[in-house]
Amino acid sequence: MCGIVGYVGHREALPILLDGLKRLEYRGYDSAGVALLEGGEIHNVKSAGRIESLEAKLKDHKWQGPSQQATIGIAHTRWATHGPPTSENAHPHLDCHGKIALVHNGIIENYEYLKAVLLEEGYAFSSDTDTEVLVHLIEKYYRGDLASAVRSALQEVEGTYGIAVLCVEEPDKLVVARDSSPMLIGLGQGEYFAASDVAAILEHTRKIVYLENGEVAVITRNGIITTTGDGVPVRKKVEEIHWNLEMIEKSGHHHFMHKEIHEQPRSILNALRGRVDEVNGRPRLGMFFEKRELLDQLKRVIILGCGTSWHAGLVGEYMMEELARIPVEVEYASEFRYRDPILEEGTVAIAISQSGETADTLSAMKEAKRRGATTLAICNVVGSSIAREAEGGVYLHAGPEIGVASTKAFTSQLAVLYLLTLAIARARGMEKEKALKMLQELNRLPEQVETILQREEEVIEIARLYKDSTNFLYLGRGYNFPAALEGALKLKEVSYIHAEGYPAAEMKHGPIALISPEMPVVFIATRDRAYGKILTNIEEVKARGGRIIAIATEGDLTIKDKVDHVFYIPQTIDPLVPVLSVVPLQLLAYHIAVMKGCDVDKPRNLAKSVTVE
Ligand code: G6P
Repeated sequence: MCGIVGYVGHREALPILLDGLKRLEYRGYDSAGVALLEGGEIHNVKSAGRIESLEAKLKDHKWQGPSQQATIGIAHTRWATHGPPTSENAHPHLDCHGKIALVHNGIIENYEYLKAVLLEEGYAFSSDTDTEVLVHLIEKYYRGDLASAVRSALQEVEGTYGIAVLCVEEPDKLVVARDSSPMLIGLGQGEYFAASDVAAILEHTRKIVYLENGEVAVITRNGIITTTGDGVPVRKKVEEIHWNLEMIEKSGHHHFMHKEIHEQPRSILNALRGRVDEVNGRPRLGMFFEKRELLDQLKRVIILGCGTSWHAGLVGEYMMEELARIPVEVEYASEFRYRDPILEEGTVAIAISQSGETADTLSAMKEAKRRGATTLAICNVVGSSIAREAEGGVYLHAGPEIGVASTKAFTSQLAVLYLLTLAIARARGMEKEKALKMLQELNRLPEQVETILQREEEVIEIARLYKDSTNFLYLGRGYNFPAALEGALKLKEVSYIHAEGYPAAEMKHGPIALISPEMPVVFIATRDRAYGKILTNIEEVKARGGRIIAIATEGDLTIKDKVDHVFYIPQTIDPLVPVLSVVPLQLLAYHIAVMKGCDVDKPRNLAKSVTVE
């Protein structure tokens, strides 16, 4: 995700800011920028790509005086969400007169509305970002007091933010603020640091003040003044940091995979942010979908993907066929392009890819386009090859996924597929009331995932018992069949234990021969329409001495007596169950791998982004 560093003090600001940005590189980014106050003006230098490209640009920059004179500045690494990773879209963003500079982490949900109003009022925009509305709002309210202009601007925005702002008129001041996106201040000797992540400033200080949601702080060389969003002063506590840098990069988690599993309540929320219309029950999925021709002409959907993204596609197939009544096929991207598929008019091909760079998926999407399909993409990485190649699409906004085994991207893909399904279903006649009800269920997911994560200990217990098994079977039916595939894939990827996912009833056509007390069988047996049938499959395994771990619905006492271990997940509607049922499976794979001493974030032989066919 994006990173912010700010400095005000007596030393040269530029190297401190650039070093800080480098400390945030692990978070993933695709462009960077820095704004320094020097010689009565803001020097704003930005670049697409790595920090090294920014450094090269800074070498050519024409300063008024030596850049060393700048002792105040802000800097940013951007991980694109709105608009591709270009230097125009990189932060800092400036107001119309180049007097105010701002960096921002988070998402401004109502930016389209605010931008329309500001354009009408004559403010000129130079980027595609949601962020730029904030700097123009501050400009609009500026009457000689930066902090009060920031407070007024923030009153108008909906969404999340961590910001740092500079103004030529008040050259000794940094203003920072936060709401649902971290922002902290580091205290030095006559100097202060601002950052979105303590890793950026740890080499200078371990004395930290953390801002709370809604707080705004003014930082000068003489100290910090913090207020609420309404300007009421707040007393802040200075905390001492004892963590080391590696722990900080992973926010206290031992591995990125664990961090990303735990980020899911947040990443799902980000996938839904601004997209759930609770009045009309029509998901808001951007301009492309608002044209309506696409949805009106739609006859058939083909979903293309690899690995985890393919599993998400399979859930998407079930959702779209059931709720939107549209024929859907899910294809391994690598297979699709080398057979001779029939694509009739009205076919939409949806490529799903976390990275947006998987070569097989990209080629399959191009092939679908060549054969006349309309192409859409569901990607996490903004401006990636697949996102650019597609005619339209939806981003996940899950933040960078660093662990090679995909976790948070999967649940966000499911959330987005569900939104897409409801958009198609509404266009094809689903009543508003039904859609509204289904959207309400979606909104409950982040909290439900949180309750699962809080019971991680139960999964650790199970992991301890089965870590030495050499084979695992994962079984599920209906919506939980893809979850079984994903659970097995996770275990294979990170623990190197052989695991197979199967539709539960197919077990008796082969895998049943493998069942023995040495073979743990994970049943995803939630109370959905396949529940009765899956209980029969459980009996079949039990009769052959298999050890059973069940993922079941809260309150289901029947299953307790039939299996060896049960992990309960909250009740939701069938199409959303995999979002919940996959979480304990991710944790199980993770903990078994850790107990076996595997390199969880970088499993042998695997790559995060497979750019060869
Ligand atoms: C690789 C990764 C998998 C991922 C797959 C598809 O194999 O190791 O975790 O699911 O690629 O990646 P994509 O970026 O297209 O979703």
